[in-house]
Amino acid sequence: MLRVAVLVSGGGTNLQAILDAIDKGSIRNAQVTAVISNNPGAYALERARKHNIPGICVSPKSYDSREDFHQALMEAVEKSSADLVVLAGCLVVIPSCMIEKYRGRIINIHPSLIPSFCGKGFYGLKVHEEALKRGVKVTGATVHIVDEGTDTGPIILQKAVDVEKGDTPRSLQQRVMEQAEWVILPKAIDMIANGECEV
Ligand code: GRF
Repeated sequence: MLRVAVLVSGGGTNLQAILDAIDKGSIRNAQVTAVISNNPGAYALERARKHNIPGICVSPKSYDSREDFHQALMEAVEKSSADLVVLAGCLVVIPSCMIEKYRGRIINIHPSLIPSFCGKGFYGLKVHEEALKRGVKVTGATVHIVDEGTDTGPIILQKAVDVEKGDTPRSLQQRVMEQAEWVILPKAIDMIANGECEV
């Protein structure tokens, strides 16, 4: 049974997709052992609590230094006994000590087809604003391994989504979440949990 810690910062729709996939059996042999948020107000914590999963807040505001925050974050992940760390709408820059300790075992969902519209500053609505500004006809989402770079680790899965006439950043974000993020993130976890991931 793969133990999964999910790191979140916001609404938790990707977390919900993971929990629903486990409940309906489309993620096999995995369980979420903790949901960890840097944001005490993240609705993702409420989603965890509704699922009887420990919802833990590790906020940088509670620590005197970035190093102390990183240490606390690492301890929260270690306490979950996680085999896999999933960044699901997580806006925290993962410390190098955690990347080292969990080398190849941290994955992230990014709301574009990497290498387009990614890297420093490309998160949330900004990704979709830039895609619309560039005039791409197709965008999508990517699940990748987290390394020391920003959105630079090996790609596990991608799924394309059409940009539609009249799209706004919000309408595009919603379609990318519904048609891509909420599909490939659970799929990637299932692949990893069952030895079907080749990266
Ligand atoms: C969304 O912008 C999503 O595209 C990205 O993280 C943000 C929030 O996701 N992956 P969530 O609803 O908190 O999972």
